[in-house]
Amino acid sequence: MSTSSKPLWILGISAFYHDSAAALIIDGNVIAAASEERFTRKKYDQSFPRNAIVYCLSEAHLSVSDLDAIVFYDKPRKKFGRLMATYMSHAPRGVENFVAAMREWMGKKLFMRRLIRNEIAQISSSAGAIPPILFSEHHLSHAASAFYPSPHTSAAILTIDGVGEWATTTIGRGEGDRITILKEMHFPHSIGLLYSAFTSYCGFKVNSGEYKLMGLAPYGESGSERVAHYKKLILENLVDLKEDGSLFLNMAYFDFAIGSRTCDTPMWEKLFAIPQRKEEIPFTQEYMDLALAAQEITNEIMLRLAKTAKALTGERCLVMAGGVALNCVSNSYIRVSGIFDDIWIQPAAGDAGGALGAAFAAHHIYFGKHRITAKDDAMHGSYLGPSFSNEETVRHLKKEHIPYHEYERFDRMCVDVADMLANGNVVGWFQGRMEWGPRALGNRSILADARNPEMQKRLNLKIKFREGFRPFAPSVLEEDTATYFETRHNSPYMLFTAPVHEERRKPSAPQNATVSERLNTPRSDIPAVTHLDYSARLQTVSRTTNERFWSLINAFKQQTGYGLVINTSFNVRGEPIVCTPEEALRCFLDTEMDYLVLGNMLLDKREQKTVSREKPRAYAED
Ligand SMILES: [Fe+2]
Repeated sequence: MSTSSKPLWILGISAFYHDSAAALIIDGNVIAAASEERFTRKKYDQSFPRNAIVYCLSEAHLSVSDLDAIVFYDKPRKKFGRLMATYMSHAPRGVENFVAAMREWMGKKLFMRRLIRNEIAQISSSAGAIPPILFSEHHLSHAASAFYPSPHTSAAILTIDGVGEWATTTIGRGEGDRITILKEMHFPHSIGLLYSAFTSYCGFKVNSGEYKLMGLAPYGESGSERVAHYKKLILENLVDLKEDGSLFLNMAYFDFAIGSRTCDTPMWEKLFAIPQRKEEIPFTQEYMDLALAAQEITNEIMLRLAKTAKALTGERCLVMAGGVALNCVSNSYIRVSGIFDDIWIQPAAGDAGGALGAAFAAHHIYFGKHRITAKDDAMHGSYLGPSFSNEETVRHLKKEHIPYHEYERFDRMCVDVADMLANGNVVGWFQGRMEWGPRALGNRSILADARNPEMQKRLNLKIKFREGFRPFAPSVLEEDTATYFETRHNSPYMLFTAPVHEERRKPSAPQNATVSERLNTPRSDIPAVTHLDYSARLQTVSRTTNERFWSLINAFKQQTGYGLVINTSFNVRGEPIVCTPEEALRCFLDTEMDYLVLGNMLLDKREQKTVSREKPRAYAED
C-alpha cells in the first residue's frame, strides 16, 4: 500500500499477442494511451510497445524512474499453464505447434518480468531505478478498463474475448473501488474464438476480419430458410448454448486448441456444404447467410449473458470490454432489449485496452486508491494519443515545398470545408490528439457527404482500397441524433448501431438482386451510411468533447440542412490509422482524396505537384 501523498504514476502495458499498447494514469486520471502499431506502422503490432511507452511518458514529462509501477495486462505463467494442460490433454496430436510454442515461451515469455525489465532498461537512462513490475489477470484488466473509467458508481461488468489465461468470458460487479468477478467461462469454450472461426471460414483474417464478417451479415436474407438451417446446424453441432449464456464448443469441429487454424475445415465443409471461402471465391448468398447466422447466434449469446449479469448483480447499468464488445451489432441487441438503463463500453475494448485496465486495476486494487467517478466518463473522448502543433505542421509543409492555405479563423475554414464536402469532395481531417481504440472519432478521419449515393463505392474503391460491400459510419451532431436515427442513446465511441429513422428510408432492392444492385439502390436520404438492414454504426459528436469536429459538422448542417457526415478512419487497407501529419500527407497523396486539413491548414490535391510518389499500392488483406 502506498502511504505517500505524491501522485501515483502507473504505466499499463499490453504486448506479445496482438495490439500491443501502453497507457499512463496519474492518480487515476488517464493521461495518455496509444497502440504501438501507430508508431511502428505495422498493423496489430504485437512487439513490446516501446514507442507507445516513450510517447506516454513524454506526454507527462516523466521518466521511467518516476513511475510507481509498471503493470502487465495478463499473467504469463498462468497462460503458460493453460497451454501446457491443453497440449498434454491432446498429446501426441499438435506436437509441432507444442514445440514451436515451447520455444517461444522458454525463450522469452515465461520470464516476462525479466523481459520487461530489459526492455524498459533500454528506454530508461537509469536502469537501476526501474519501478516494481506487476501483473493483472487478463480479464480483470478488461473488467477494470470497462468499469473504472465508466460514468457509473456501480455496474454489472461483462468481459468477452477469445481467451486470456483461462477465462474467455467473465461476469462481475463493480462498486466504488472494488471489482468482484462472479462467474467465468473457460477455454476452450469461447465466444470470441467461435466468431473468429466463422470469420476465417468466410475468408477473412482472424483478429482483424471480424468487423468484415459483421459488415457482411446484413447481406444475409433475414428470416430465410437457409439462415434458419445454418443456425440449427450451428446449435446442434458446434455450440451447446445454455440458458444463462454459457456455452460448450464441440471441439471435434475446432482446431484452435492445439492447431494453427480456428476451425476443422473438412468437418465444417461437410456440415455447411460450402467450401471455406478463399479470397478468389466470390461472396455468394451462402456466405452472407452464414455470416448472418453467426451474427444472430452471437447476439443471442450476448443477450443471455447480459440477462445473467443482471440477475447476478441487480445493477441498473452494464459496462463491457474484451474484443467481442467491439461487435456493435450485438452491443445494440443488448441495448434495445432494455435489460439495462445504460451500457458503457471501453473504446479500446480489445487487448490494447488491457493496458489501460491493468493500470487502473493496480491503482484501485493493488494500491487501494479511492475512485472518483467522472460525470460523463474518464476517457476524454478517447483522444489520448499524440498531437502536433500548427507550427510543427507548417515546418514540415515548407520543408517539403507542399502548397497549403492557412486559416487564421477555424470557423472560416469549417465553412469552406463544409462546402467542399457538400460538393462531393472527400476530405482528410487531421486535428488534435490521436484516438485511442480502433475507431477514428474525428481527429484522424476521412470525411464525405452521407447523402451522396455514389460515395460508399467511391470511398471503398478509390480511397480505402477495400471491399466494395463494406459500410461506412456516420458522425452526427449529438443533439440531432434522433432526427436521423431511432435511438435515444449517445454513441460517442462508435460502438453501437441504430436504425436509420423510418421516415428517411426508401424501399430496398429485392432479395434476389445482385450485391452490386443492392449496394447501388439508395436505402435512405443518407444512403452512404445506411446499411442493407437500414442500420448505421453511428458516432454521436458532442460539442463539449470535440468542439472542432462538432463545428465542422455544424457548418455542414448550416449549408445543407444535414447535421451528419461520413466518418471513416484515416488510413488505407492494410495500414494503421495515421498518427503524424507526415503520414496523413502521404495517405492524401497516395489516394484520390480531394482535400486534406491539418489543424488550420488546408491542402488542395489539384495544387500538389508531388501527387502520388508511387501508384496506389495493391494493399494486402487487412
Ligand atoms: Fe482479451
